[in-house]
Amino acid sequence: ASSIEVNVASLEPGMSLTVKWRGKPVFIRNRTDKEIEEAKAVALDDLKDPLARNANLQAGAEATDIDRSAGEGNENWLVMIGVCTHLGCIPLGQAGDFGGWFCPCHGSHYDTAGRIRKGPAPENMAVPLFSFTSDTVIKIG
Ligand code: FES
Repeated sequence: ASSIEVNVASLEPGMSLTVKWRGKPVFIRNRTDKEIEEAKAVALDDLKDPLARNANLQAGAEATDIDRSAGEGNENWLVMIGVCTHLGCIPLGQAGDFGGWFCPCHGSHYDTAGRIRKGPAPENMAVPLFSFTSDTVIKIG
C-alpha cells in the first residue's frame, strides 16, 4: 500500500517524529503556540517561496501558516516531506535562524512552518497528501 497510518497520541506540543513514506522521511511536528505565532507573524511578501506546496490544497494556494499546517482546528500539526528542496539532504529540526529546520549541506534555513527563508533551497518543504483518521491517527498518502 502506498499510504501509512501514524499514531501521534504521544506527541506533546514541541515534539516531532519522523516516519518513512515512499522511501522518504516525513516530519510530523506538534508545534508549540510560540512556533505557530512566529509563523503567523511572517508577511507573505517576506517569503522566498509564496506557495503552500500542500498536496491537500489547490496548486496555487499561498504559503500562509494555516495552509502549510493541517488546517483549521489542527494548525498545531505540521506534516511535510523532510527533504531539502535544494539537493535533497535531510534538514535538522529545531535549528537554523528561524527556529524551524536547518539543512547543513549548503545552509538552507526553514521556519516553523517549513517555509524556506534563507539559503539556496528554492521551495518550501512539500506537504504530502494526509488526513486525520481519528484525533490521534494521521494517514499519509
Ligand atoms: Fe539542503 Fe543544499 S541540500 S541546502
